[in-house]
Amino acid sequence: METIFSGIQPSGTPTIGNYIGAMKQFVNLQESYNCYFCIVDEHAITVPQEPQKLRQQTRSLAALYLAVGLDPEKAKIFIQSEVSAHAEAAWIIQCNTSIGELERMTQFKDKSQKNGRTGVSAGLLTYPPLMVGDIILYNADLVPVGEDQKQHLELTRDFVERFNKRYAQPNQEILTMPEVKIAEQGSRIMSLQNPTSKMSKSDANPKGFISMLDEPNVIRKKIKSAVTDSTGVIEYDPENKPGISNLLSIFSAATDRSIDELAEAYNGKGYGEFKTDLAEAVVALLEPIQNRYKELLVSEELDDILDHGAEKARLVANKTLQRMKNAVGLGRKPKRNK
Ligand code: TYM
Repeated sequence: METIFSGIQPSGTPTIGNYIGAMKQFVNLQESYNCYFCIVDEHAITVPQEPQKLRQQTRSLAALYLAVGLDPEKAKIFIQSEVSAHAEAAWIIQCNTSIGELERMTQFKDKSQKNGRTGVSAGLLTYPPLMVGDIILYNADLVPVGEDQKQHLELTRDFVERFNKRYAQPNQEILTMPEVKIAEQGSRIMSLQNPTSKMSKSDANPKGFISMLDEPNVIRKKIKSAVTDSTGVIEYDPENKPGISNLLSIFSAATDRSIDELAEAYNGKGYGEFKTDLAEAVVALLEPIQNRYKELLVSEELDDILDHGAEKARLVANKTLQRMKNAVGLGRKPKRNK
């Protein structure tokens, strides 16, 4: 059975972009893969976080993983910082990655341009090696993510190739080469207010995103005020009509109806009617998730699941970490049974 790894940062409440681009895929994939789904809290502290809030968001994201339908019997669900191999592997990876490679990462360039180089943490630069570690520790074959993570996956593949070449014996493979898995539809959901930039949970303007925990009336309002265009024609044309095309993608993901079918169904109808129906579709998608979430958040079951997930994750992660340490020559030579 092939292995899957993916993670989401607890840096805010996930948006429907996170759901459509990532979580929705996770739920389908758990049926046929050996899955690890992580709450990557160590990634979240690359930018300042309020400690109490970070803790609460971490647990909240775990509850959301379960509420969308992830099954702890099928997938390992755990918190990154509870498996110490992540931070250890990240160090070895950083020491085998050049600063130039990291400075080329779009996310680093964007964030450091906004805040200035001295205004960002060193962790923001070395964030991709931490992500490389997440993936390789579990020998992942496939990594389901949204479009924005593609560059990090390319870096991961380059790293694996370089590490194996440098340290492995002929015909030996220390690390598994992962493939990126991007959903055909909805891998880049855009902001409702600025449909040429990505919907993001850290957007300063909450009208730009729909959080998975937004109340039904908030969802209706946000969709009503979503930016469209003045043509009044409902068609999928991301280049010229990014607003309405984005809403069609969301509608399609929320209902599992194809974009073509929806465009056909709303042919000749106005944006108002389309938005009302879209809002009801999103409410219908999120309401049951929110109800399950509220129950899970107060249950002890959630902590048991996370304890158990971390235990299982540690077993695999520590083995890979040991292989990496042996490869680079860290520590003493391991005894045979290690
Ligand atoms: P994060 O927390 O920003 O996003 C989590 C997942 O959601 C996807 N995503 C989107 N998909 C479609 N439309 C959007 N607007 C949108 N916004 C976010 C992201 O592509 C991602 O799949 N670095 C990662 C977390 C991470 C990770 C990993 C992922 C850490 N280690 C290892 C995979 C494997 C991140 O910041 O995702």
